Amino acid sequence: MFYITTAIDYTNGAPHIGHAYEKVLADVLARYRRLRGDDVQFLTGVDQHGQKVQQTAERLGIDPAEFVRGITTKFTDLWSTLGISHDGWAETTDPRHKACVQAILQALKDQGQLYKKTHRGHYSVRQEQFLTDRDRDASGAFGAEWGEVVEIEEENWYFKLSEHTDWLRGYLKQSADAVLPVFRKSELLNALDRNPGTDLCISRPKDRLHWGIEIPFDTGFVTYVWFDALINYVSFAGFRAQPDAGLPDFSKLWTADERPVHVIGKDILVPAHGIYWLCMLHALGFGDAVMPRLIVHGWWNIRGEKMSKSLGNIIDPDELAARFGTAALRYYLVRDIVTGKDADFDAERLVMLYNTELANELGNLCNRALNMSRRYTGGVVSRGGPFDDADLALQSSLFDSTAAYKSAMDQFDVAAALEAFGSHVHHCNVYAERMKPWELAKDSANQERLATVLQHLVESLAHAAVLLGPVLPEASSMIAEQLALPQLTGLQLPDLHWGLVAEGHQVGSPSPIFPKILTPEA
Ligand code: MSP
Repeated sequence: MFYITTAIDYTNGAPHIGHAYEKVLADVLARYRRLRGDDVQFLTGVDQHGQKVQQTAERLGIDPAEFVRGITTKFTDLWSTLGISHDGWAETTDPRHKACVQAILQALKDQGQLYKKTHRGHYSVRQEQFLTDRDRDASGAFGAEWGEVVEIEEENWYFKLSEHTDWLRGYLKQSADAVLPVFRKSELLNALDRNPGTDLCISRPKDRLHWGIEIPFDTGFVTYVWFDALINYVSFAGFRAQPDAGLPDFSKLWTADERPVHVIGKDILVPAHGIYWLCMLHALGFGDAVMPRLIVHGWWNIRGEKMSKSLGNIIDPDELAARFGTAALRYYLVRDIVTGKDADFDAERLVMLYNTELANELGNLCNRALNMSRRYTGGVVSRGGPFDDADLALQSSLFDSTAAYKSAMDQFDVAAALEAFGSHVHHCNVYAERMKPWELAKDSANQERLATVLQHLVESLAHAAVLLGPVLPEASSMIAEQLALPQLTGLQLPDLHWGLVAEGHQVGSPSPIFPKILTPEA
């Protein structure tokens, strides 16, 4: 089972393209694994508790539950617009999640992993955590990223994180795919060396924060939002769930054969996922063989700057989808960023990549393969005569690009997979230009050769429809329909072979799948 999750998005504001990117990336990987023939469980959701939600709801004069319902709908609507194919949906106000968080807290308490103490210190309201001197900037102040910082003294519950950090260091050093890309693992190890072993404060007193999951053995406190949120990866996977809870069977999802994959942004590797979560799992008795793999993606920035409300440069994915279409948006979000690195969001590049790679290259291949087949061979596909060098080169290009596509997808590198895909589509268009079916058609003596050339284009298009599926499922179905081979969308990678289009098959007629985007700025 390939169990893939994303971060769960905060519900204190509307979704932006950063959220959209992560969900599309995970969706492409989940769809790719289904295409590979794997069983897939894809979980995403929303992080609904915490001080920020409580404060925003208070400001608006509404109940936090009502507030998060409204924001949650914005996310679910967007995921449906973008065709996100999650199997599970995590909402941290779900009673089944709450029960799991409380069971975990009780188990850790019973094991002696939790203790209570009083702490006086600086507290960041924005990040909902106590700060230490290490969080001060060069001038000795707490930087703007911490927002409002207040000095407070508080009694709270702590998790003995420091008992697990030696294990964590050893685990990270010996596991090749604990954190990908590898340079992120170095960042995590550096952070561990800089900050060895402080315990984690996992509660908040209710008089300050009531919008959270109550600590089961000390009802004056709620659970720290990160401790609560991280548990979604196991709670919605059925960990310690009632058999009739409508959740998956945990033992099938969380296995050593195929360790779970968490797709997260670079900002939440250290300390949340890379330290807190792995140590929490370790404390719960999870062994190295079942530690999740962390796929850490970079950020979409705007002209090198972080997107932020204060800079007023937040990009709304709904607007982009309405303006350019979901295919253009999905394609751009995974095409113009290398998994792990940052990229600059640029609507002109979105239009340019869509117009060149989809409208001009793939759209053109689709249009010319089907149009010429209909015009010159009545739409009937046939092998024609013997294959010449150009045909064999086209066949090996398909074979090689498919292998490169698979290997890139297996390494979570969607941009490289799309490049491999695009290189074969381009090869097909160059082949068409060189073979000139329109010239061959002028002399009936070339009929066999013409059939061979068209068969190569149509066969390539059939493969392209299948390989495009994980990234652009709708366009993939449209190509399959136009080829009159709707069954292509049900194929899996092991089914791919030269000969998907049977001898004598009659193709359908083309209609534009990727109409060019015409904008004043394009
Ligand atoms: N709620 C926490 C995650 C809890 S996971 C147990 C959170 N939420 S978030 O809404 O701030 O971010 C959700 C995801 O979106 C994170 O993985 C984050 O890295 C990602 N992104 C937020 N801004 C982003 C960009 N500008 N670009 C790409 N991804 C970004 O953190």
